Amino acid sequence: MITVQSLTKDYGPNRAIENLNFTAEKGEVLGFLGPNGAGKTTTIRILTGFMPPTSGIAKVGGHDVIEESLEVRKLVGYMPETVPLYDDMRVYDYLRYMGQLRHLDNLDERVEDVLEKIGLEDRSESLIKNISKGMRQRVGLGQALIHEPEVLILDEPTIGLDPKQIREVRNLIQEIGKERTVLLSTHILSEAQQICDRVIIINKGLIVAEDAPENLQNRLSSSRKVSVRVGADAEKAVDLIKGVDGVVSAQLSTQGLIQFENLSSRDSRAEVAKLLVQKGFDLLELTPEVVNLEEIFLELTREDAPVAEAIENPPLEESEA
Ligand SMILES: Nc1ncnc2c1ncn2[C@@H]1O[C@H](COP(=O)(O)OP(=O)(O)O)[C@@H](O)[C@H]1O
Ligand SMILES: [Mg+2]
Repeated sequence: MITVQSLTKDYGPNRAIENLNFTAEKGEVLGFLGPNGAGKTTTIRILTGFMPPTSGIAKVGGHDVIEESLEVRKLVGYMPETVPLYDDMRVYDYLRYMGQLRHLDNLDERVEDVLEKIGLEDRSESLIKNISKGMRQRVGLGQALIHEPEVLILDEPTIGLDPKQIREVRNLIQEIGKERTVLLSTHILSEAQQICDRVIIINKGLIVAEDAPENLQNRLSSSRKVSVRVGADAEKAVDLIKGVDGVVSAQLSTQGLIQFENLSSRDSRAEVAKLLVQKGFDLLELTPEVVNLEEIFLELTREDAPVAEAIENPPLEESEA
């Protein structure tokens, strides 16, 4: 179990995280979702005892991460953003070495078990420099699991992997999460939705939302944004678009671009296009707006507006990494 109370960290004059409060229970995969610079790694480094917070309390398995850092390190398996692997070591030897550092006595048994979990039994004799990025990532996960930790903390575990490798690592994390506490950070919305039981959204060092993934989906997929450009008489076009079934709102931007939102259950694009052409407008452009994660966060913190995002094509999907 992880408990965080009023956790704050300043880097000099810059506040990286502010007054974070959350818990993660046993048998739970908790997602820490936020764009780059949100404060995910900072929080994780504090939780894993790599640096102290400026103020606040962080506990793992009931142990304070500063006062009882040795206890915490025993309890926690940690996979950093960049796993420090030794290229000239064989997979088997590396995992064995990591177990040795933790003074495990059933070393070979532990290595065999981990190799099976990460699916690398047949590559155990390969030099780390000769295995693929996905396999390296799995070795990184393996070293985090070598001492059968109660708590697993993973910083962007799928970053830099191809889609097939991402699927493998995600499945593995879900499997592990059934019997342990897992905290994982990610900037990929769909990843958090897929593998987490609960998601905390962090932006600019603040928690802006905390929810079950299915609720997150509802909050984010209620409408979609589309941009339209016409040759002339844009104001008239706005009025027309407003009248189309399923369109929630439409307005004209200062750049002469019409932006409208429609319900996700109803794609109004074809109807809008047809109508505009029928009424004699020159339709120059009709594009679904790319909503990035930052915008989603802004939407999430905005109380007054319906949240608009196309969950079907998350902009920061795996290919981006
Ligand atoms: N070692 C550091 N020194 C100074 N500022 C840092 C340091 N590490 C992170 N930051 C700043 O703290 C903020 C949070 O960063 P980080 O925790 O790495 O975010 P994330 O992991 O969500 O991308 C960012 O504004 C980042 O520039
Ligand atoms: Mg980070």
